[in-house]
Amino acid sequence: MEYQNILIEQKETVQYITINRPKQLNALNKQTIEELNIAFTEAEEDSNTRVIILTGAEDKAFVAGADIKEFANFSIEEGKLLSAEGHTKLFNFIENLSTPVIAAVNGFALGGGLELAMACHLRVASNNAKLGLPEVSLGVIPGYGGTQRLAQLVGKGKANEMIMTAGMISAEEGQSWGLINTVTTPEELMPACEKIAKKISRNSPKAISSAIAAVNAQYKEGVDGYLAEITEFGKCFGTSDFKEGTSAFMEKRKAVFTGE
Ligand code: CAA
Repeated sequence: MEYQNILIEQKETVQYITINRPKQLNALNKQTIEELNIAFTEAEEDSNTRVIILTGAEDKAFVAGADIKEFANFSIEEGKLLSAEGHTKLFNFIENLSTPVIAAVNGFALGGGLELAMACHLRVASNNAKLGLPEVSLGVIPGYGGTQRLAQLVGKGKANEMIMTAGMISAEEGQSWGLINTVTTPEELMPACEKIAKKISRNSPKAISSAIAAVNAQYKEGVDGYLAEITEFGKCFGTSDFKEGTSAFMEKRKAVFTGE
């Protein structure tokens, strides 16, 4: 597939997806969201891809938000649709992907950009990153899951502060809040993501996708997370990965997982 706004690169078991609109600070327009939906769908279907690293082109921005120029004249109905489609096609989609996604945050991650990083399973940020949800300064609120995921990650008080002040915080502050997993220099950003990706890649893809489903279950309306854990735990016993992992332990060798 030919993409206009994203770049795809595969290195061994890691797929790199780069949002490539640097002149617009990688702002998420409709086309980019469509392309990301296709790219993540294909990456999940590709059994060779064990981890996805999502980043923004060049070093100024990860993503500076939803494309303000595109939605500036929207009606109430169009605004609702923009948010709903974003949730379905990209933000909830990534959060529930069975392949783990690491956000490599390399500069501004604002509005929809921070929401995108929060939808990923892990966040590594360079120390030039600036994080914020400035939507209320535009007369709107975070509409790509930010009101929910920020509160889940940092607690309601800090989420309210970030949303209401529309202020920006540094990567280090984000780490102390629990929003960022690891902070690096800009040069070390990709190597740090790759180190985590390598560690993840050694483990059972089947077990990892079950872990993602179980962890996410807690945040789903009407779903009992403990019951989801029981179901996912049981499912693991029917996989080849489980047979391989337990056999390798008993044979005192390293497991080689196929993801089956
Ligand atoms: N949408 C569209 N274009 C954007 C953009 C965005 N979110 N962010 C930056 N750009 C564009 C600018 O318009 C500019 O384009 P032109 O050269 O064509 O004018 C280009 O990117 C470079 O940006 P700046 O000249 O503004 O760069 P700067 O260094 O002076 O400022 C910045 C950087 C502080 C990040 C500033 O660009 C900015 O404040 N951007 C908007 C951030 C924002 O409000 N994000 C939230 C969007 S709303 C949202 O995301 C809603 C939702 O939850 C669904």
